[in-house]
Amino acid sequence: MCGIVGYVGTEDAVPVLLDGLKRLEYRGYDSAGIAVQTKDGLQWRKCVGRLTELEEALSKHRLQGRPGIGHTRWATHGEPSEINSHPHLDGQGRVAVVHNGIIENYQSLRDQLTAAGHHFLSATDTEVIPHLIEQELANGAADPEAAVRGALKKARGAYALGILFRDQPDTLYAARLGSPLIVGLGDNGYYIASDVPAVVKHIREVIYLNDGEMAVLTSEGVTVKTLDGETVAHTTHPVQMAPEAAERAGFETFMLKEIHEQPRVLRSLLEQHVNDAGQVQLPEVGFSDDYFQLLRRIMIVSCGTAYHAAMYGKFLLEHLTGLAVETDLGSEFRYRSPRIERDTLFVAVSQSGETADTLASLRLAREMKCKVCSICNVQGSTLVRESDSVVFTEAGPEIGVASTKAYTAQLLAFALFSIHVGRARGEITDAYAQELLEALAGVPDAIHYVLERADHIRAIADKHHDGPSALYLGRRFNYPTALEGALKNKEISYQHAEGYAAGEMKHGPIALINEYLPVICICTQTADEVYEKMISNIKEVEARHGRIIALATDGDKQVSTFAEDIIYVPAIREEFSPLVNVVALQLLAYYAAQARGTDIDKPRNLAKSVTVE
Ligand code: M6R
Repeated sequence: MCGIVGYVGTEDAVPVLLDGLKRLEYRGYDSAGIAVQTKDGLQWRKCVGRLTELEEALSKHRLQGRPGIGHTRWATHGEPSEINSHPHLDGQGRVAVVHNGIIENYQSLRDQLTAAGHHFLSATDTEVIPHLIEQELANGAADPEAAVRGALKKARGAYALGILFRDQPDTLYAARLGSPLIVGLGDNGYYIASDVPAVVKHIREVIYLNDGEMAVLTSEGVTVKTLDGETVAHTTHPVQMAPEAAERAGFETFMLKEIHEQPRVLRSLLEQHVNDAGQVQLPEVGFSDDYFQLLRRIMIVSCGTAYHAAMYGKFLLEHLTGLAVETDLGSEFRYRSPRIERDTLFVAVSQSGETADTLASLRLAREMKCKVCSICNVQGSTLVRESDSVVFTEAGPEIGVASTKAYTAQLLAFALFSIHVGRARGEITDAYAQELLEALAGVPDAIHYVLERADHIRAIADKHHDGPSALYLGRRFNYPTALEGALKNKEISYQHAEGYAAGEMKHGPIALINEYLPVICICTQTADEVYEKMISNIKEVEARHGRIIALATDGDKQVSTFAEDIIYVPAIREEFSPLVNVVALQLLAYYAAQARGTDIDKPRNLAKSVTVE
């Protein structure tokens, strides 16, 4: 959840670290800190609060030097405070460490180290690492590198680490186990970071460290090793991301930029995966038609917004492939006794590819001998590397904590995957597949239409944002849309919101309805089998004087007879309407949050990438 960055090379490290941390702040913003080798030795600064606090502190008490490490924190062990902020140091100020992850056996290590005379300052799990290294040196480790290896062999849990030694002024150590860490190669030096966008403007190539590997970086180069000290031949990958992709590009927030990027992202995904003959091409999926024909079941697991995409995927896969499809949350799947066998395909969905519960579920599925396909946005992520096959969502870096473009790209990935599997299994004809693809081709323009009506959506948000709660209702393909609309609203505006299957409302939530409650009703189809049912559900709200905000198809006359406010969207096949409808709900949440004055890109208590269980 935290972000780490490090640099060794010819430049002053401080601006590199601050810029990198700015781009990693979405991973956590409880506190920030840096440590740098200065001409006066190893020095550090840390501050509770946002990165701006650290920048202010550094403007008063400047630091200059290289190499350096930096950290932005999402608190797990110990409250957000200066003492709990990273970097953490050993007892003599010789070793500085930044860490993302959790050292699960920290308490027993801390007890042992305390008994050996170490004195701890913070409540964090991380602080045991520099003390363990100090102890390894005291025990006679041959050199700092051997001390790092010895210490890490004693730590259990997850870590991405950046480590500096006062006595090694041109060396930066990095290590990874279960938490993301990349090594970047640039013209002016070598970098470590929790993700590529943090250092993208400096680097040309990247090394994705594997679990159990460490890297030794000096201004002369990088060596990757195992914890046994053996050198590992590593692969370098060219950096494909344009540095501008990690900028706000004139938008007031990353979230607004990412909402507006959706037509382009989806158009380009379609161009990449639909060939001139109108067939779906998913080369990275790799499984043969025979494999899909013998398949019995699909199990989709993910968390948060990606779970809503999974629910949509279930509806669509069942609809188009004839397969039994089940979904579960990553945090639940691994703690039940799931019955999945070799003839089940396990699909993991994740924007970051680093979500701890999704990864743990994937590993469980692998133990059960299932093939794994991931739907993921980040090349080189752990999820991708541990999967047999992948559908990349290619949405570009998503920096706003609230997921938007990654979600619609996940929905489109499911649409393409469902058509692909449906064809492979002979469940749908070529002609039907083409009809579906033609409908999908209209989605980017339909989203554009919604974006052009942002002012109208803002006016509706301004009118309804004040209340304590809001209810979102949808059915069938748009049931996940209702859940996602409610999640977007609560996570960025902090207004309580609940998403519900509209037909279920009368089994409980109907008790909430009164003349103050905004009820957002998704009833965008005029001809499909659930439209009339949805209208009946809305009538139940009307009868109890709920304030109805309807999402309706252009030209729908019926809805205006009972809705207080209406957001019209263009007509689109029901199966694909969630891709368009959710954009209206993203904007509704966005403007509600703006009216409520929240920090939209960095909502309180949240972090973009949830790498702890
Ligand atoms: O990176 P992932 O897609 O695995 O992340 C899963 C959730 O943590 C994420 O979708 C979260 O719910 C977002 N904040 C939602 O906007």
